[in-house]
Amino acid sequence: MLFSGSLSSVNASKMTVKNLTKNDLPNVKILATGGTIAGSSQSSTDTTGYESGALDIKTIIKAVPELKKLANVSGEQIVNIGSQNINNSILLKLAKRINTLLASKDVDGIVVTHGTDTLEETAYFLNLVVKSQKPVVIVGSMRPATAISADGPLNLYNAVEIASSKEAKDKGVLVTLNDRIGAARYITKTNTTATDTFKSAEQGYVGEIAGGKVVFYNEPIRKHTTKSIFNVSKLDKLPQVDILYTYQNDNRYLYDAAVNAGAKGIVVAGSGNGSMSDTALEGAKDAVKKGVVITKSSRVGSGIVTHEASDDKDKFVTSDSLNPQKARILLMLALTKTKNPKKIQDYFDEY
Ligand code: DGL
Repeated sequence: MLFSGSLSSVNASKMTVKNLTKNDLPNVKILATGGTIAGSSQSSTDTTGYESGALDIKTIIKAVPELKKLANVSGEQIVNIGSQNINNSILLKLAKRINTLLASKDVDGIVVTHGTDTLEETAYFLNLVVKSQKPVVIVGSMRPATAISADGPLNLYNAVEIASSKEAKDKGVLVTLNDRIGAARYITKTNTTATDTFKSAEQGYVGEIAGGKVVFYNEPIRKHTTKSIFNVSKLDKLPQVDILYTYQNDNRYLYDAAVNAGAKGIVVAGSGNGSMSDTALEGAKDAVKKGVVITKSSRVGSGIVTHEASDDKDKFVTSDSLNPQKARILLMLALTKTKNPKKIQDYFDEY
């Protein structure tokens, strides 16, 4: 049975929701892309070997009838896949659809259902290209819909409640799982299987949902949505940016391979504060000579990669506190504006 064992917690939180008529309720559109929140398995104890992206959005909405108390909810299937298969063309399609929907006075907020593996990349991309102050909330789950204690239904209920709330306006794209609200700029997946996987170690959550109430404590100050200069309305592709991981005994050939494969930018998941071996450094410097923008991030998981005099000399960009996968998103968008590393550095300092 779908979502068994989870609806009792939804029943508890709905008690705080007033009885509003259809006309009083906000209109929230759910755009579905797949992931575990749409996952299904033969066994209710299977929380890892399931098929992700198995259920369509109509089935998911039907399984959480409590949503009707919060908003006039309608669903739209964008794709139905594991998020490891989300690519640039899906990102562009999703962003354009969201911008079209939010331009209408009939839409008050957007929820995107998404696999958790690359959720933060989509969230940060949307954070930079959505042109509206209306709430956009990305939600996933760690257990499939068929599991004992599936977390999807309450996560979805929370997402619709956030997307319906006035307080969520102009906070950039938000992420919710496990009763927490995170900012797309700061949140990251930190655990392969646990339900409390989304964290932002240094900057913290921006809010939480407790007793059926959405509460905000912080807001992201980095530029987002209506203050962002990035615009995808006329783009049908994004520049190729690859990520190269640093490790002992690494070499330059992956840099050469990326350049030969047409990379316009390379993000380095450097060790520590963005350090690279001498051999990797040679590959990166030669890439710069060929017009490729190198951005140094870190494989550590938190902290800022500081910008040193040697980075200016090498014409390298540093990623501030963006992890490699989010640095790739910003570098792709930056390269739609300029190839100048100094200007791109400004973007990394601002966004
Ligand atoms: N394949 C993964 C994805 O869609 C499932 C993980 C998840 O959604 O939690 O990202």
